[in-house]
Amino acid sequence: MKAKYDFSKGERGKFYNPKAVFNIPNPDGKDVGPKMRLNNKIAIVTGAGRGIGRAVALRFAEEGAKVVVDDVNDINGASTVAAITDAGGEALFINADVSDANEAERLISSTVDAYGSVDILVNNAICSTADVLNNNWEANLAVALRGTSNCSDAVVPVMQQNGGGSIVNIASVNGLIGLQAIHAYSAAKGGVIALTRSMAVAHGKDNIRINSICPGTIQTEVWEPMLERNPQILDEITPWYPLGRIGQPVDIANAALFLASDEASFATGAVFVIDGGLTAGNHQFPI
Ligand SMILES: NC(=O)c1ccc[n+]([C@@H]2O[C@H](COP(=O)([O-])OP(=O)(O)OC[C@H]3O[C@@H](n4cnc5c(N)ncnc54)[C@H](O)[C@@H]3O)[C@@H](O)[C@H]2O)c1
Repeated sequence: MKAKYDFSKGERGKFYNPKAVFNIPNPDGKDVGPKMRLNNKIAIVTGAGRGIGRAVALRFAEEGAKVVVDDVNDINGASTVAAITDAGGEALFINADVSDANEAERLISSTVDAYGSVDILVNNAICSTADVLNNNWEANLAVALRGTSNCSDAVVPVMQQNGGGSIVNIASVNGLIGLQAIHAYSAAKGGVIALTRSMAVAHGKDNIRINSICPGTIQTEVWEPMLERNPQILDEITPWYPLGRIGQPVDIANAALFLASDEASFATGAVFVIDGGLTAGNHQFPI
């Protein structure tokens, strides 16, 4: 029997084909197409070889940004860049491990060398699903938390020189509520939220806005190992969502686009929960 959530090539195309992102459906005849909100902006997205990071990179490119795609996976990183350039956008792949402060420095300085500046940083990279499920404290803290801090610390001086910028940290609902026994991941994501607030207070004077996004369940390849163990897992999770569905990478990409753009000019230190209502509560009392 064919699994409902199949990440094999054909199914993946539905969510990862740039056309699916670049040609936003327009069912009501309303103008929901690209508005070039990030025209002439330089953006870095960490962990952009697949999943949410890839969707963010594509969405930003669609809105006119030059995008630096960071990942530790060369094939996936090059694939994201190809998707952007094939659609007429501009992008560059840099393989930098964000958990290493020197690598993070190199990511920022190479971007400045290539494009002259950095306006937007999206800290999205996360360690492997196995490390998340096995509560690997070193890996979770090193990539999610120190990685966010490493890249942010390296980009702040560039943004200060520019007169401002926007940093978007991808946290998780696991940083807000207890869901599963993935304590190291949850603690790292809680740390990302605290880091967001601390840095936002410190750098408001520099016009650097720093916000975090807490996604609920998003259908990306991180779920593959869990689907192998239980092919129904995403179906079983869905009823917990008041909107009756789990999220797609573009749902988070659209939120990141808003926070990166000038439309969010008064937002900093905030936690944007994009979770289909999961953390609003899912019990409907029969009264
Ligand atoms: N998918 C979900 O259900 C979900 C839910 C809540 C939050 N999130 C968060 O969203 C973000 C993206 O999740 P995803 O599902 O797209 O994950 P993913 O595993 O599909 O993508 C993560 C990417 O990061 C890269 N990476 C790993 N280590 C790195 C390092 N040291 N330096 C640079 N890149 C590295 C990987 O190669 C991969 O391409 C993560 O921060 C995750 O915690 C995801």
